[in-house]
Amino acid sequence: MNNLIKLVDNGLEKFLPTQEPRKLFDSMRYTVLLEGKRLRPVLCLEMCRILGGDPQNALAMACSIEMLHAQTLIHDDLPSMDNDDFRRGKPSNHKIFGEATAILAGDALISWAGQNIIKNTPAPAELRIELLNDYFTAAGANGVIAGQIIDIDAEHNSTLHTEENLEFIHTHKTGDLFNLAIISGAKIAQAPQSEINKAQHFAQIFGLAFQIADDILDVISNFNELGKTLGKDQQAGKLTYVTLYGIDNAKCKLTCLLNECDNIINEYNSNILKEIIDGIRKRTGV
Ligand code: IPE
Ligand code: IPE
Ligand code: MG
Ligand code: MG
Ligand code: MG
Repeated sequence: MNNLIKLVDNGLEKFLPTQEPRKLFDSMRYTVLLEGKRLRPVLCLEMCRILGGDPQNALAMACSIEMLHAQTLIHDDLPSMDNDDFRRGKPSNHKIFGEATAILAGDALISWAGQNIIKNTPAPAELRIELLNDYFTAAGANGVIAGQIIDIDAEHNSTLHTEENLEFIHTHKTGDLFNLAIISGAKIAQAPQSEINKAQHFAQIFGLAFQIADDILDVISNFNELGKTLGKDQQAGKLTYVTLYGIDNAKCKLTCLLNECDNIINEYNSNILKEIIDGIRKRTGV
């Protein structure tokens, strides 16, 4: 796991170097390079390796997904969104650079990361176009942004606190990036459609499990562990697994989903996937 994280960190330095306008690039690099778990890029590289590809070929894609993830974090933390002052254990982007720059840095990351896929993925043009289409689908109005708008809409609006909306929010605001990471790794490995379908099934379950874990951690974790302010979901009247079903039911659902993940990844025989799943168990205590 640490080797892959190192590969990703080096890739992020390489694919997002400092340049002018300095303030913009400083802001883009700030959140991207802060210490995160790097789960999405690691999943992309590991999926590529498991399915017979060279992880180096997936590095640009993996780094672009991490840049896109950082963009979602920067915008998610803005005062008009979740209004979070801390991210990855440090002040949020807008606390350091101001709101206007944080908005622009997020915007800039979306297109920068997309271009990085086209320019730096060593794959046939047709596959690069497909990856770019997958990237924009996950990033856009049918992807993360769809999830985020319903998440924001449902704040303090109990008429929207339905099972259906909860599933929609989690699938899109969180699941879509994990799906992108896992599927793109499989595609870069030139895996057959049957393997891509299997990977997609894993991605769906993993993405949902991950956001339920995040919902639980908002209640039970601590700042040192989480690097962000706790108890924000309840305070903001968010629709989460915990606010809709309670902490015990959320933990129960998480346990079931992680067990399902285990069943799927047993076939992959990957220590890294095991480490990721066990890491979620450990952090949430399920
Ligand atoms: C945070 O994601 C945003 C969610 C989708 C819950 P991570 O928990 O992966 O954050 P980092 O990348 O480790 O900071
Ligand atoms: C995560 O949702 C989805 C994103 C697009 C960032 P949250 O709002 O729950 O993420 P955290 O808890 O701020 O990391
Ligand atoms: Mg949010
Ligand atoms: Mg948030
Ligand atoms: Mg959260």
